[in-house]
Amino acid sequence: MFSDDDAAELYDLLNPWDPGRWPTDRFYDELVMAAGSVLDVGCGTGAMLHRAREQGHLGRLVGLDPDHAALTRARLRSHTEQRSGTERVDGIEWVDGVASDADWQAEFDLATMTSNAFQCLVTDEDLRASLVAVHRALRPGGRFAFETRHPQARAWESWNPAEVSEVQLPDGRGLRLWHEVESVSGDVVTFAETTADPDGGVLRVDRTSLRFLDVEPLRAFLTEAGFELEGQYGDAQRGPLTATSRQIVTIARRPRPADRQGAAWRPADSLLLRHSRRSRQYGRTACR
Ligand SMILES: C[S@@+](CC[C@H](N)C(=O)[O-])C[C@H]1O[C@@H](n2cnc3c(N)ncnc32)[C@H](O)[C@@H]1O
Repeated sequence: MFSDDDAAELYDLLNPWDPGRWPTDRFYDELVMAAGSVLDVGCGTGAMLHRAREQGHLGRLVGLDPDHAALTRARLRSHTEQRSGTERVDGIEWVDGVASDADWQAEFDLATMTSNAFQCLVTDEDLRASLVAVHRALRPGGRFAFETRHPQARAWESWNPAEVSEVQLPDGRGLRLWHEVESVSGDVVTFAETTADPDGGVLRVDRTSLRFLDVEPLRAFLTEAGFELEGQYGDAQRGPLTATSRQIVTIARRPRPADRQGAAWRPADSLLLRHSRRSRQYGRTACR
């Protein structure tokens, strides 16, 4: 038996928010700390927003996610014990729901979808509704930042049962984890993540579908929802998108009314496909 709460704890163990180690986490931390108000869509256990508060972010922080166990963990961490033993609430708002449920009106300077959460928006219908909701939640001039796995890197090909991870939980229990792709249909990959005991006894299987949108359709969905593209990069250090990029890192913006007047859209320099010899670290394997 491996409960949803156990799975949320395991997620944090495997995916600590660590800007010192992961350029992607650093990319988001910088944007968050510079924004007055932040909506983190698909916030999971809330690690990024917790860190922002710890680092002195004084503005409004809201996390939205449909995973109850993850949100419960986020809420628990919001109630930290002070030295005196009294409870202090950090004022982060945790909201149950999917991206398309977001019904805020022009309230945020920044919206984020971190750790490839954007790829959970699988159908055209959900993508459109989610983008419209995020756009509406942003103030004019507000930004929407997210990263997705570039389909050209075919990350799912390494998600196979031969690649087993062995993990030790804080209580000493050992676990074995592996992934198995069940189908690739167009740009949607469906796979199972198995959590097992050290002898291979299966404790739980989680099935997930992720969409691997390519650069052009991604831009088209953003434009249709009313966003302007501020920048699109091949990695979290804002390197160019190239024929070998493993990520698509996007910053889109809800235009201010004045931005619209007569502004013909031009691709930023970073949008042009160029080859780069820079090696890049590609982050975490977690694909929940
Ligand atoms: C890989 S986790 C990322 C969690 C967190 N952002 C992080 O950086 O660790 C993807 C998250 O997206 C959430 N999610 C799935 N479908 C969603 C949807 N339609 N709208 C918003 N969030 C969704 C999942 O519940 C999960 O917590």
